[in-house]
Amino acid sequence: MKIEELRKKAQKELNLIVNIEELKEFERKYLGKEGEITKILKSLKDLPQEERRKIGKTANELREYLEEKIEEKEREIKLKEIEEKEKQEVIDITIPGKKIETGHLHPLTLVKEKVEEIFMSLGFSVVEGPEIETEWYNFDALNIPKDHPARDMWDTFWIKSQISNVKCQSRKTKKKPNLLLRTHTSPVQIRYMEKHNPPLKIIAPGRIFRYEATDASHEINFYQVEGLMIDKDVSVANFVGIMEKFFEAFFGKGTQIRLRPSYFPFTEPSFEIDVTCSICRGKGCSVCSYRGWIELAGAGMVHPNVLKAVKLNPKNWQGFAFGLGLDRLTMIKYKINDIRLFYSGDLRFLKQF
Ligand code: PHE
Repeated sequence: MKIEELRKKAQKELNLIVNIEELKEFERKYLGKEGEITKILKSLKDLPQEERRKIGKTANELREYLEEKIEEKEREIKLKEIEEKEKQEVIDITIPGKKIETGHLHPLTLVKEKVEEIFMSLGFSVVEGPEIETEWYNFDALNIPKDHPARDMWDTFWIKSQISNVKCQSRKTKKKPNLLLRTHTSPVQIRYMEKHNPPLKIIAPGRIFRYEATDASHEINFYQVEGLMIDKDVSVANFVGIMEKFFEAFFGKGTQIRLRPSYFPFTEPSFEIDVTCSICRGKGCSVCSYRGWIELAGAGMVHPNVLKAVKLNPKNWQGFAFGLGLDRLTMIKYKINDIRLFYSGDLRFLKQF
């Protein structure tokens, strides 16, 4: 068959095509492996050179032409399908619209804001410090020298790359400081006292990091709220008063606290603060291991060496510091039994707040 005739025949057939299946069949018939045009192109090798060139050229032109037409037809068919669908579609404008869900604050943020609100009402300011700290702020300035066994209590993630412009006011050193992810919010005490003169009353909420295995009550990162009050005449009695006020505002009337002796290198004396279990109200339940009390903070009177590290004279100034576990506070407030839920990003959990 002459190529020109083939073109006419193809054109006629193409005009009659109304759906994709037919179009695919058409494509196979002409351009497929065994297709008409493919056959012509394959037979070229047996022809004399002159003819081969001529027929080859027209056959290729026809191939390109058909490819183009097939594409065009495909677009046409698809467009028609869409138009058909649109015609059938009935839009009911009386159906109520989809509600757009707005997000909300994470339970840890809700509790953090509540804690801030209470402490602000007691005259404390809210400050922040960096999550990447120098060894000096996280340990040395807090009376934890390099070889001190207490460093084991705060095993941490060290950072390999060195940033040279970290400000380190208390230690005029040219050496690049060793960097780490802070293991507690206590370094903010130092940073704040370096820049502000007492009397001062601050809290410093923030994220901290510990190098440890995770389980229902341990995470590699969690949140603390640091507290610090420095003045000429601050005693443990002032501290107890502030804590009582805070916990009562947070957990409700009748909440009591008790202090147990503890040890921190940066406080002397040091305490652990227990609060009446808010779930059983002190009667004893599984959450408080039937003790009726829950441990919620570490605290103590600021160690003279810490004051010296920020060039304050311990003879003139004294005060207390505490570190509240924000995650624990939140777990007890909302009766959550696994700390990992806070960081799981699980919407089934988050939607409950
Ligand atoms: N930084 C201590 C910790 O992370 C808590 C603490 C803060 C203790 C302030 C005493 C004073 O365990």
